[in-house]
Amino acid sequence: VEKPLVRIAQKIDKAFFEPLDELEYSRLGLVIDENVHHHHYKRLKKYLPDHTVFKVRAGEQHKNIATCEKIWRYFYDRGFDRQALVLVIGGGVTTDMGGYAAECWKRGLRYVLMPTTLLGMVDAAVGGKFGVDFRDGKNLIGLFGEPMAIWMATDFLNTLPERDLKAGYAEVLKHGLISDRIFWEKCSTKFPNIEKYEEVEGLLWRSIELKQEVVDIDPLERGLRKILNFGHTIGHALESLYLKTETPLLHGEAVAIGMVLEARLSAEHTGLKRTDARMIEERLEALGFELWPAKVEWDTMEELLLQDKKAKSGELRFTLLENIGNARVDVPIPLDAVKDVCKRLLK
Ligand SMILES: NC(=O)c1ccc[n+]([C@@H]2O[C@H](COP(=O)([O-])OP(=O)(O)OC[C@H]3O[C@@H](n4cnc5c(N)ncnc54)[C@H](O)[C@@H]3O)[C@@H](O)[C@H]2O)c1
Ligand SMILES: [Zn+2]
Repeated sequence: VEKPLVRIAQKIDKAFFEPLDELEYSRLGLVIDENVHHHHYKRLKKYLPDHTVFKVRAGEQHKNIATCEKIWRYFYDRGFDRQALVLVIGGGVTTDMGGYAAECWKRGLRYVLMPTTLLGMVDAAVGGKFGVDFRDGKNLIGLFGEPMAIWMATDFLNTLPERDLKAGYAEVLKHGLISDRIFWEKCSTKFPNIEKYEEVEGLLWRSIELKQEVVDIDPLERGLRKILNFGHTIGHALESLYLKTETPLLHGEAVAIGMVLEARLSAEHTGLKRTDARMIEERLEALGFELWPAKVEWDTMEELLLQDKKAKSGELRFTLLENIGNARVDVPIPLDAVKDVCKRLLK
């Protein structure tokens, strides 16, 4: 499959949408997150040719088949055929679901992803995985697909809540930890100034490049792609656990904690230097990540860990670091060892 063309710009302006003039399409549709619509649509509208709009309600709880059905209903009512073109504009919730809905419609509608969150730009919109949640499982329904292009404008980030911005940054740091020590050094010592375009642009490009390199080698997640799961085995369990409390964690916040704890596992099992494991913890803390939220029950945590797709008969498989910049996938780890590194979080 051909790689989608990634473009990064500072602003939404006339030039941003000029590539549309080169394309032939029967209809142009927007599938856009409601908050992004609220903050940015007035501006977008000025530069867009004739189009219609479908607004997606914000929040993970709407990333499901019921919303897809509404999107398909919109395609249907507006007579979207395979010559139609859709711009999917929003965070990971919108791009995961919009891409999925477009891929399914008549076996594939053309679409451009326009991620508007940091997490979307460095992670969710890149790599061709799309899908929605089902029952209590995340991303249970989905497919691998390919957008026509990925267009980003960093000025979307100006309206993103600080908390979402920081959570997205956890994935940037992860990219450094698993594959580029120099990038990690640069990113982990200071939070980027999002007002400075050059700074943000450089960070986006490197992060996207790192993810794409991995995805190119292993598009279907048979092996190498699993390095992207660093911090996510424990992270996902924490994310689900806190979802049921009064203080839920954002995905990136849970991943930050997961990375600290999995770095400790790496020191025990895959030869990461202890000083490096400590450095990861100190840097994340200094960047303002809350590493020790309210305490949780181990029993619930254990149950959630065992639900992980990578768990095999009571034993967990982790992606761990051999050193900063190199990860190893499928490392079997006994549950007791996991409990041990989680100690400080447990009741
Ligand atoms: N497909 C993949 O490979 C992949 C990878 C990582 C994450 N994901 C998915 O991404 C999702 C999380 O993405 P997310 O963190 O972007 O969350 P999100 O899409 O829910 O966006 C976070 C919040 O920010 C709002 N928002 C978005 N852009 C904004 C802007 N520019 N200004 C103001 N508000 C804005 C949204 O309305 C929402 O309230 C999860 O569902 C996760 O499963 C997918
Ligand atoms: Zn993640």
